Amino acid sequence: MAQPEQFAQGLSIGIIMDGNGRWAKKRGLPRTAGHKKGAEVFQDITRYCNEIGVESVYFYAFSTENWSRPAEEVGAIMRLFGEYLIKAFDYEKENNRVVFLGDRTALEPRYQKLMDEIEQKTAHNTGMTLNVAVNYGGRAEIVRAARALAEKVAKGELRPEDIDEAAMCSEMYTHGQKDPDFILRPSGEKRLSNFMLWQAAYSELVEMDVLWPDFTRHDLDLAIEEFNRRTRRFGGI
Ligand code: IPE
Ligand code: IPE
Ligand code: MG
Repeated sequence: MAQPEQFAQGLSIGIIMDGNGRWAKKRGLPRTAGHKKGAEVFQDITRYCNEIGVESVYFYAFSTENWSRPAEEVGAIMRLFGEYLIKAFDYEKENNRVVFLGDRTALEPRYQKLMDEIEQKTAHNTGMTLNVAVNYGGRAEIVRAARALAEKVAKGELRPEDIDEAAMCSEMYTHGQKDPDFILRPSGEKRLSNFMLWQAAYSELVEMDVLWPDFTRHDLDLAIEEFNRRTRRFGGI
């Protein structure tokens, strides 16, 4: 069998980290225990992606709709996120460029400050780009891009006829990055749940029955193998 690094080189992967709650429930644990284990898996899979030559990875950590969960759960997820922000300085050593996707103005100011610092400190790293989507919604991202372009038109900096796909892309959180080649969703759900709606136009969808806290490096190999078996046509024949 080919080594993972031979078939993962240059790939861009979206990962919807789902199933934390069900994992905890199965064990009679609070949902927050699932989030804690899920965060550990996030860290290990990030390292693995790095090792096998993935170009960019997009992790969905918290959606614009996840605020509707009980305050206690939201609070626990945000605390965990804060812990990982502090640890994230490790990624500098790992040569990752870190980018946060989503509306960070709703997060605690000290987290916003850390996010800005991490992005600045890692901006010139030459390894994998690690994207973490927090308070991210695909629709909100498209609305934000439309508004930014409308503002430029209102100021006379842009003509309406200059608005094209490239102009929209330039206002996305992901500007300058490759669209995901495939989006992986563990936990058996078969939906995007508002993740990367613009960028997923031609992404392959790979869904797996494993819950995110149980997800292993081998599962990622299986997902990449599955992706490599797909035929992408991009509308052609
Ligand atoms: C994903 O796991 C984590 C977040 C959405 C923050 P869930 O918490 O959605 O787990 P399930 O889907 O309830 O099992
Ligand atoms: C998607 O999972 C969001 C994240 C993984 C961050 P959800 O658990 O929120 O999605 P639904 O509610 O099952 O669609
Ligand atoms: Mg879920």
